[in-house]
Amino acid sequence: MTKQPDHARLREFWNRRYVAFTLSESGCLGAGEGLNDRIYACKLQALRRAIAALELPRDTPWSVLDAGCGQGHFARFYRAEYPASSYVGLDISERAITHLQRTILDAEFQVADLCEWDDARGRRFDIVQSFEVLHLILDDHAMLRALANLARCLVPRGALLVTAALPDQTMQRSGYLRYRSRAFWDNAIASLGLRLVAQQPMYYWLPAGGPANKYLRYALTRVGPGALYAIDRTALRLGLPRPASADVDSRMRLLTLQRA
Ligand SMILES: C[S@@+](CC[C@H](N)C(=O)[O-])C[C@H]1O[C@@H](n2cnc3c(N)ncnc32)[C@H](O)[C@@H]1O
Repeated sequence: MTKQPDHARLREFWNRRYVAFTLSESGCLGAGEGLNDRIYACKLQALRRAIAALELPRDTPWSVLDAGCGQGHFARFYRAEYPASSYVGLDISERAITHLQRTILDAEFQVADLCEWDDARGRRFDIVQSFEVLHLILDDHAMLRALANLARCLVPRGALLVTAALPDQTMQRSGYLRYRSRAFWDNAIASLGLRLVAQQPMYYWLPAGGPANKYLRYALTRVGPGALYAIDRTALRLGLPRPASADVDSRMRLLTLQRA
């Protein structure tokens, strides 16, 4: 089968980026380990809420496919909090997958491109998740193929959990990230026979490291990521409108999609 146009670039980039398999290698580039630890705490909060809304029983064996599983943060989460579930992680980086196969023994990992992966055993999954991956695929057709492929991996009442920032206009940054517009996503969701069941903001401005105002920002760097995280959570809980200066990464949401 012909590889998607971004395949070789993504594979090479991520094989190079994974060295010690830390959070900052799969998370926000340049944010450092402390801030990435808090960013991952936000990702887990969003994931926990999305799973809770699906009302999946904790003690029965439902299944998860994690497409673009990175250095295994979510594999560890499912093993610890939902030990009865089965987990399959895919990643384009064979370095990441070799590491995961050696270090997390009670989960399954495969090297694969999520645009074209097909389970050799024909399995379908209750949850298919893909966090912070689809915006790395720059080609729109390949991204749509990826979304269609993920939807195809669901059981009939399964849920697809994907992250998207949904800006008004599609934005492409630095030949590396493409944030598709809300209209693009609406069309994609409808054309695949899916519906948006829920969406939740994941951050207030945490991935941007704080507000744009340089004095406030400096003051917050002095108190560290823990305080920044507490402020972020409070602002989200209070439903404070996000400042216009908030970076597109800070606008990331977790979408829950199901068959229409
Ligand atoms: C930003 S990291 C996010 C990892 C993980 N989902 C998380 O949130 O920790 C993106 C991951 O997607 C993987 N990836 C990128 N393109 C992919 C593709 N086409 N198929 C499978 N994995 C891909 C990368 O190797 C990397 O591990």
